[in-house]
Amino acid sequence: MKRFYVTTPIYYVNAEPHIGHAYTTIVSDVLNRFHKLLGYRTFFLTGTDEHGDKIVQAAQEAGMDPKSYADHISALFRETWPKLDIANDCFIRTTDPGHMRVVQHILQKVHDSGDIYFSTYKGLYCVGCERFYTERELVDGKCPDHDREPVEREEANYFFRMSKYQDWLIGHIESNPHFIRPERYRNEVLSFLKEPLEDLCISRPRERLDWGIPLPFDDRYVTYVWFDALINYVSAIGYPDGPLFREFWPCVQHIIAKDILKPHGIYWPTMIRAAGFEPYQSLNVHGYWKINEGKMSKSKGAVVRPLDLVPRYGLDAFRYFLMREMVFGLDANFSEEALVQRINSDLANDLGNLFSRTLAMTARYFGGRIPPFGSEAEAMDRELEAHARQALQTAMEEIPRLGFHKALISIWECINAANKYIDHAAPWNLAKDPACEERLRTVIRCALEANRTVALLIAPFMPSTARKMLERLGGAKPMDAYRLDEDAVWGSLPDGTPVSKGEALFPRIEQAVKEKEKGEISAKPPEVEGVTIESFQKIDLRVGVVKEAEKIPKSNKLLRLVVDMGEERQVVAGIGRHYAPEELVGKQVVLVANLQPAKLMGVESHGMVLAAHDGKALRIVSPEEPVSPGARVS
Ligand code: MSP
Repeated sequence: MKRFYVTTPIYYVNAEPHIGHAYTTIVSDVLNRFHKLLGYRTFFLTGTDEHGDKIVQAAQEAGMDPKSYADHISALFRETWPKLDIANDCFIRTTDPGHMRVVQHILQKVHDSGDIYFSTYKGLYCVGCERFYTERELVDGKCPDHDREPVEREEANYFFRMSKYQDWLIGHIESNPHFIRPERYRNEVLSFLKEPLEDLCISRPRERLDWGIPLPFDDRYVTYVWFDALINYVSAIGYPDGPLFREFWPCVQHIIAKDILKPHGIYWPTMIRAAGFEPYQSLNVHGYWKINEGKMSKSKGAVVRPLDLVPRYGLDAFRYFLMREMVFGLDANFSEEALVQRINSDLANDLGNLFSRTLAMTARYFGGRIPPFGSEAEAMDRELEAHARQALQTAMEEIPRLGFHKALISIWECINAANKYIDHAAPWNLAKDPACEERLRTVIRCALEANRTVALLIAPFMPSTARKMLERLGGAKPMDAYRLDEDAVWGSLPDGTPVSKGEALFPRIEQAVKEKEKGEISAKPPEVEGVTIESFQKIDLRVGVVKEAEKIPKSNKLLRLVVDMGEERQVVAGIGRHYAPEELVGKQVVLVANLQPAKLMGVESHGMVLAAHDGKALRIVSPEEPVSPGARVS
């Protein structure tokens, strides 16, 4: 059986979980779930990094001792992940006795082999970074991270002979193209390695810092926090001879952001080499989330906490947004407007609409049971199947190489193709003619199959939506039992299985308050005097089918529609904030057909589309079952 092991950085316990931590951990969760769907045996590790100066300082500020403080923040991380549907197998803390033993074991081993030596070092030390800097690493004489001048310090310490492994590391990176990816970060490490590598100071005198793991060969010192922390990736799985270590090492994918490239790209592989085991398989490096185009900053209040967003927007919407919006490796921007936009267009309009209309038609035309295919497939059926196959293939290629956004784009191409397929096949017309029963079966079945493929492919990204979709599509299996190669095969839905409609997957997020402020909508019905039946009958209400729909340039609200009501009419409708144009094509609407023509944003309108509006949602009025275009409403 194939193995897959994924890790996040272990997070410092000096800050609460924010969107940056959530992103790395969700990426790891998506990869883990994806490999499970492929039938791999998987292991997913995250945790907290709890030693060192930074933590002592944060604990002091909080008026707590380091251990109680670490217990508190570590618990916040541990409790956050299940709330984001993150299913890690292990949560490691560097204060766990098992981890501390492994760190000491490795230190002893490397010391015994002669790669750790004692020496006096005089240099420029940055307290914030807890490390010495070389002159050339400073920017204008200051630490580049803290913008502070380092202090001169002389200290006797232990050093790891990192320089000895420089040539080996260059060779290893050059002969393994996927060792560090994307390529820009591989190149960054290689260019760093063009300069001679210095040995790494791996101890701190206890008189200055007591909060750390004592060196096994000299207890006047504790271990430098990075030498301690990196070892979590093997201590958690039972290095050196535990069954999990034997099973999962070295097929590990480390996921980190660019801030910690150097310790992971240089210290860690050389430490591994010195300790005498196989290097990790890949280091995967992503960019930074910015908030409204700026750096995330606690002091400016620009910190996005996932648990604030999820109750407002929904968990799967949040996960989808992060995975769709960031190109792995590059920076991305977070804003609530962009999140709402994605929810309303990709999730409510595209995916939600496809799923609800498919199930509604299965209920209406086939009593809620999956119809068998008719005997012959038409070109459009084969085209939809090809879209589903393409989405599957793209996901299989792109997800393992971190192309999450590309996988999602391809899945959404399939969703949009399925919506268009329904519009063009117009099942509501087929249903009117008993001679078309076989064709109607095929159309609904193809739409159901597309929904099923989509449900499986989004499962790693949006586990609870996928579960809901598969259940309503009649799936009887627990989620863990699904396999992409068997279950995403076109035609694999069982004939006759009952499906259930349920509520909307993604309700639209209405920005009602803002709109109300602008005076554009009002929940209060206009006050009207009673009208006579004769007056009412003067209004010519007709049913029409939307043939074309498009946005009117420069307007957020107005759409230009061509409506077939026996004859074709151009109508301008102010529903663009509530419907995407594609969503309307094929829908039946009710028109005020004898309204005096008017020009809106320069476009002539010959009628008015009726819609219901309760101050939050706006929905067009449609006959309960399709009727012939031009039918009178009275
Ligand atoms: N404790 C070390 C890691 C030790 S791993 C052996 C550490 N901790 S941290 O709490 O600072 O976490 C850094 C990681 O958090 C980044 O590498 C990234 O995974 C995540 N992020 C923190 N801020 C981020 C953004 N603004 N954007 C994206 N991810 C970010 O470094």
